[in-house]
Amino acid sequence: MWSSLVIPTFLFLSFSSVGLAPDPGSATDENDNYPPFWDQTEGDIAEFPVQNNKTIVDPWKYIDRLRIYKILIEESNKYFASFGKNNTGNVLWALTLLYGKLFKTDRFSEPPKSSRCAYESGASSCISVNSGWGGINYYVIIMYFLAAIESEFLGNLPYEVELLSQEEYRSNFCYSVEECHAAYPQVMDIANRFYKYLQSRKIVSTTIGIPQYDTDEDTVIFNMWAVHQAAIDVAKPKISDVLFYVSETERDFTMDFLLAVELVEAVLYCPHFETMTELLVGFPHRLLTDQDHNVLTSNLSRRKKAVMTVAKLTPEINKSTGGLFLTIWKKLMTSKFAQPIGRFLINRLLLIPIE
Ligand SMILES: *[C@@H]1O[C@H](CO)[C@@H](O)[C@H](O)[C@H]1NC(C)=O
Ligand SMILES: *[C@@H]1O[C@H](CO)[C@@H](O)[C@H](O)[C@H]1NC(C)=O
Ligand SMILES: *[C@@H]1O[C@H](CO)[C@@H](O)[C@H](O)[C@H]1NC(C)=O
Ligand SMILES: *[C@@H]1O[C@H](CO)[C@@H](O)[C@H](O)[C@H]1NC(C)=O
Repeated sequence: MWSSLVIPTFLFLSFSSVGLAPDPGSATDENDNYPPFWDQTEGDIAEFPVQNNKTIVDPWKYIDRLRIYKILIEESNKYFASFGKNNTGNVLWALTLLYGKLFKTDRFSEPPKSSRCAYESGASSCISVNSGWGGINYYVIIMYFLAAIESEFLGNLPYEVELLSQEEYRSNFCYSVEECHAAYPQVMDIANRFYKYLQSRKIVSTTIGIPQYDTDEDTVIFNMWAVHQAAIDVAKPKISDVLFYVSETERDFTMDFLLAVELVEAVLYCPHFETMTELLVGFPHRLLTDQDHNVLTSNLSRRKKAVMTVAKLTPEINKSTGGLFLTIWKKLMTSKFAQPIGRFLINRLLLIPIE
């Protein structure tokens, strides 16, 4: 049954906000929206050290994962030129901005509550192998990265890439194209399909000297979210069994949020820079404590409470409808007519004015 507080909270949040003007103070500094240290990376594989003719990547370091995100953004920008100026239309911003947000909000730190791998450690920060978000994010970015290598989306690399593994939970993670293919063939196939689609695009025109490709927006957004979801599907059971969280509230939020993301993905939510920045304003800016368990009395902002409430509500509705809610939502949202309605609903629920 739906917990007695969830529905009133939800109604309160979505209707009490009508007519409130957005807070001008929320217009954040543009540079704050990029992941920390974004400008300190080039998006070039040559930035990684080379040892014994191998490019060495440590995926449990913040900066190394950031370099991977930037490489993928840089290599794919040209296909999205018509979707927004200054490459803001790249569909990979969704993942990249969430990555920065997770770091900024200390979600890669060593649980239960230590400064190890915390945001304040700076550019050289680690990502704790014990952190739930760190593990989930590993699956997402590494599948994208290894499939980009496998499909030769990154061209002919000068050296073979070696991912440094952590001994802890070694068997929970795959560290090479071969290993990931063997363990998660379906995810690697879906990720390869994302790149194969881009590689098959053709230049159809040129605008102020910039070639425009015949990239179909819906197709590429669908493909991008499909990889994300496939990676999360394999990550979730591994992560929920073994990893630690700072509080039960944070752990539940993580799992609920990942389920609510499925609703967002199903409407082919726009993953561009501006829309994702706006959506992520509602992502809790700190780790949740058990005082946040009751969303209404927590001291987070109204926008963040709305996101937490939708996250909380999703599994409850799913459960109380015997799984039908998610199934029907996803089925409905395959229709071009229903998608805008779904997007409207999601924006109405998640983008409530900031007080
Ligand atoms: C690296 O590759 C080059 C060219 O293939 C080779 O000459 C050299 O011995 C290799 N170095 C190491 C450390 O394996
Ligand atoms: C264009 O994007 C880069 C990062 O990709 C950013 O540093 C720069 O400020 C942006 N320029 C404008 C005019 O928005
Ligand atoms: C908000 O709540 C959190 C945890 O419940 C607490 O650590 C923090 O100090 C509170 N902030 C304010 C401004 O009261
Ligand atoms: C959705 O509900 C069904 C039926 O209760 C359940 O089997 C399934 O695990 C739920 N899905 C999630 C992701 O919670």
